[in-house]
Amino acid sequence: MANLAVELTGLRFPNPILAGAGPSTEGAAALAAAARGGAGGLVARTVLAHPFLPAAEPSVVPYGRDGLLTNQRGSSLTAADWTYPQDLSIPVIASLAGTAAEVLELGPRLVASGAQALEFATAFLGWPESVEALQALRKAVNVPIWAKLSLRHGEDIADRAAQIEPFVDAFVCMSGFGPVLDIDVDAGGAPRLSDPYGYGWLSGAPIHPIAVRTVFEVARRVNKPVIASGGAMTARDVVEFLQVGAVAVQVTTLPMLKGPQAYEALTNDLNGWLDQHGYDSVADITNLYLNKWRHGQRVVLITEEAPKLDKALCTGCTICGLVCYWDAITAKPKALPIINADNCFECGLCVSACPEGALSFRPRTEVTLLP
Ligand SMILES: Cc1cc2nc3c(=O)[nH]c(=O)nc-3n(C[C@H](O)[C@H](O)[C@H](O)COP(=O)(O)O)c2cc1C
Ligand code: SF4
Ligand code: SF4
Repeated sequence: MANLAVELTGLRFPNPILAGAGPSTEGAAALAAAARGGAGGLVARTVLAHPFLPAAEPSVVPYGRDGLLTNQRGSSLTAADWTYPQDLSIPVIASLAGTAAEVLELGPRLVASGAQALEFATAFLGWPESVEALQALRKAVNVPIWAKLSLRHGEDIADRAAQIEPFVDAFVCMSGFGPVLDIDVDAGGAPRLSDPYGYGWLSGAPIHPIAVRTVFEVARRVNKPVIASGGAMTARDVVEFLQVGAVAVQVTTLPMLKGPQAYEALTNDLNGWLDQHGYDSVADITNLYLNKWRHGQRVVLITEEAPKLDKALCTGCTICGLVCYWDAITAKPKALPIINADNCFECGLCVSACPEGALSFRPRTEVTLLP
């Protein structure tokens, strides 16, 4: 059993899988269920000066594999409805959003209601307003402040992080991606969500690589801890977040799709991964990628000169021949493809496209850094 505990902004979490803000952390019963389900810490749903009231349904719809689209915007409970439980033996963090004037009132109130730290969600406001609100919040409370960043403020997320670094203790990367638009074409062109234009925010597996990039960008830039959020569905996703610079990983879509027991299942899978790979603790894998690649060295991934064919797996489907735009593969139905190494560009497309996994390059463990 690996040591899974992490320390973050003075709080100790028994494992790095935290419950992210959403319906799965809305109110005392949901928080208790997430704690029972094995979450290492809880970020309660975002409290607003004006609680979110959906005008119509639906406000959450599925998207692709393990993805969700939502137009929900924070908690439907008022600040007065919230108390943050102290008896769950894991840290409980309150989430809030609002203008400087609003958070001056909300922040101290949520701390008085038991929050051990505050997560400020920047996605709810424009950028200058978010900076002003964080400045105000810093003066108003003594507990750690986590700033949850959103790509809605532009691609230069690391610049934004650097700008607010003086006022916050940690960063959360990232909120749902959006706004996005996905419509029901079979209904003659109808919105799928109850937003006026059908807009929503994408979460879960489809946004994972975007979130990994934002964690890496921000971790490269700031000297404060980064907490990942975005499509962590498997132990591999969690390991990836930790390797690029996250200290802990929030999950929201996962427990929404699988229920609160998903926290413990993911933690067990993470533990299994660490054991299998011979690591004693999460600290052993944290920053492995960040430390090697933060300066973006020039890299050559060494592969074979041309892909290798496993004749036993090939069904002669000809797809590799169709996708090779360099004329390096001659493929005829029901026959083994002929690979002409002289023409091969080593692009890897045929390896990706082969439905049988019959083509491969040497694993990319041999990496050469160019000066
Ligand atoms: C239905 C739904 C409601 C959400 N509500 C909130 C919220 O109130 N506050 C917040 O900061 N993030 C909210 N989020 C965003 C998640 O906390 C998380 O940052 C995002 O979904 C990406 O992580 P995931 O892929 O693990 O879900 C919500 C996400 C979903 C799907
Ligand atoms: S690696 Fe690229 S160029 Fe080489 S055979 Fe495959 S598709 Fe063609
Ligand atoms: S795509 Fe794969 S299975 Fe199909 S012909 Fe090429 S090697 Fe064989």
